[in-house]
Amino acid sequence: MYQRAGTRRTETRAVAAAHPLAFPAPPDRPARLVVLVSGSGTNLQALIDAVADPAYGAEIVAVGADRSGIAGLERAEKAGLATFVHRVKDFADRADWDAALTDSVAGHQPDLVVTAGFMKILGDRFISAFAGRIVNTHPALLPAFPGAHGVTDALAYGVKVTGCTVHLVDAGVDTGPIIAQGVVSITDADHADGGEALHERIKTVERQLLVEVVGRLAREGHRIEDRKVWIPA
Ligand code: GRF
Repeated sequence: MYQRAGTRRTETRAVAAAHPLAFPAPPDRPARLVVLVSGSGTNLQALIDAVADPAYGAEIVAVGADRSGIAGLERAEKAGLATFVHRVKDFADRADWDAALTDSVAGHQPDLVVTAGFMKILGDRFISAFAGRIVNTHPALLPAFPGAHGVTDALAYGVKVTGCTVHLVDAGVDTGPIIAQGVVSITDADHADGGEALHERIKTVERQLLVEVVGRLAREGHRIEDRKVWIPA
């Protein structure tokens, strides 16, 4: 069960007024989420399931993708959500793609944008439009093993624990302020299948962590100070 503390709204608004990097939760309505996906969309599904509870404090207003024909979009359509697709190859250049993506997301007036397995690097325009409000999930313990191969890079390095990181997106690749992390142990057997089973174990932890973090941001808001993300307790 998700619960807001009765007094927190006022406190959060006061913080917002005093601090330029404060993102208060909407005081009297669910937070609006736009979720971006590129693949199977199990993280999206976890969010779809979570928002079904009105106490969660958020609604998904649209799902966007950089490719069509993916399970993530099917999940969105099955849930009756608005969807849009912008493929890089349909644009003259990356900046045009980024502009179209920015405009589509902005059109849904999100409080938070969640990149849940979205396998494209966002451009400057997108990041400035939603600065401090883009939440990403990465399947490794950042700052170790950023980039598209976080699971296999961790395995290849020989670390004994890895996990997932939910963080805010900045202009770098997986470099933004960390909100929460979950730890997963690596076993010898994980080296036998190229990281498939390990990634599935990470995703189990990741889905739970993403749902928890997005819900807290939606209900309580957050502020950012020197790379630290503070969510009112
Ligand atoms: C997740 O592990 C995410 O961190 C990574 O890709 C996976 C996406 O899974 N970038 P899904 O599409 O949500 O099932």
